[in-house]
Amino acid sequence: MTAINQNYMELQGSYLFSEIAKRRTKFIQENPNAEIISLGIGDVTRGLPDAVLNAMHSAVDELAQPVTFRGYGPEQGYDFLIQAIIENDYKALGIDIAANEVFVSDGSKCDVGNIQEIFSQDAIVAVQDPVYPVYVDTNVMAGRSGKYNQETKRYDNIVYLECTAENNFKPSLPDRKVDLIYLCYPNNPTGMTLTKEELKVWVDYARENSCLILFDSAYEAFITEKDVPHSIYEIEGAKEVAIEFRSFSKTAGFTGVRCAYTVVPRELKGTDADGNTVLINDLWNRRHTTKFNGVSYVTQRGAAAIYSTEGKEQIKSLVEYYMTNAAIIRDGLASLGLEVFGGVNAPYIWLKTPKGMDSWSFFDKLLSEANIVGTPGVGFGQSGQGYFRLTAFGSRENTEKAVERIRKLSL
Ligand code: MLT
Repeated sequence: MTAINQNYMELQGSYLFSEIAKRRTKFIQENPNAEIISLGIGDVTRGLPDAVLNAMHSAVDELAQPVTFRGYGPEQGYDFLIQAIIENDYKALGIDIAANEVFVSDGSKCDVGNIQEIFSQDAIVAVQDPVYPVYVDTNVMAGRSGKYNQETKRYDNIVYLECTAENNFKPSLPDRKVDLIYLCYPNNPTGMTLTKEELKVWVDYARENSCLILFDSAYEAFITEKDVPHSIYEIEGAKEVAIEFRSFSKTAGFTGVRCAYTVVPRELKGTDADGNTVLINDLWNRRHTTKFNGVSYVTQRGAAAIYSTEGKEQIKSLVEYYMTNAAIIRDGLASLGLEVFGGVNAPYIWLKTPKGMDSWSFFDKLLSEANIVGTPGVGFGQSGQGYFRLTAFGSRENTEKAVERIRKLSL
């Protein structure tokens, strides 16, 4: 038999959202008449904006004719999309990003998962806890995590930066030398943010301690408050120490269509085993061109349409729709005396489970008594125990119904 990658044996259970889907399916099989409301995985429910649809339809038509047909495109993305990204997401904020620093891809999940492979096997990784599980699991697969400790329920070699109500979900700086720090803002799962000053502490730390920040900003479009930075590059010096990940998934309904991008500044440097300086951008480019053939032309035309005048308006109302849902959940649960966080600059509401229930018990209660699927906080890490996440991505009707059903529970 073929020997397998032993690192995979260190993975714990199944991927969080697959586990939730499994439990949901089992419940439906046993209760075929239950009317389930899914506020678990952050999957959008509105259709694609018209501007996107129109652009995609035209792009499909172009593919019908030899003169306008497109085969393989540039692996890094078409220039029309890269220029739209640079102009709207960066120049508008006074940030200079060059075309060869943007890499269009089929999703931030893939990029935040794949990025680790260009770094040393010995790199020490720090993650927020609770954390989007992809950061941890991909480092486990790569053999960087060390052993899983059954008592602490954490990996020996991963540095966990706790984010709980006690520190207002703002992690402290690592207490030992780390090489890679995954930061996610607006945060998944807590929905919380950092101010510019708070983010500057991390950038300064990374500059002083030669580490790299992997900044997942997939929920940037949901920021509503003024002092919350939209890009880590708003902080001086961040281009020397940070890679930024952005996604069209949640903003424009692309969870199924698939399109995202990653910014890898040319300033970012690493060293090889002989002490030579290497540009991280060159390595990512090498990886991207070797392992990826680019996002489809049709999809990139759709993504570029988000930046048109009508596209921007449509995205704005889409974001407003979901953030109204967030307010409905937040206010509804708070009125029941539950402690709720997030939901102001992010489409996630993070709540303390009532009566100190553990996260999975609350999941079962919500599913069996209210037929609502949410996400148990502990699935994101030990610091998430006793918390629970609901998403604002449902329909308005289901969101209102879910709050009403929760109101009727004895909590
Ligand atoms: C989530 O629910 O955390 C996200 O939808 C997962 C993802 O974007 O992969």
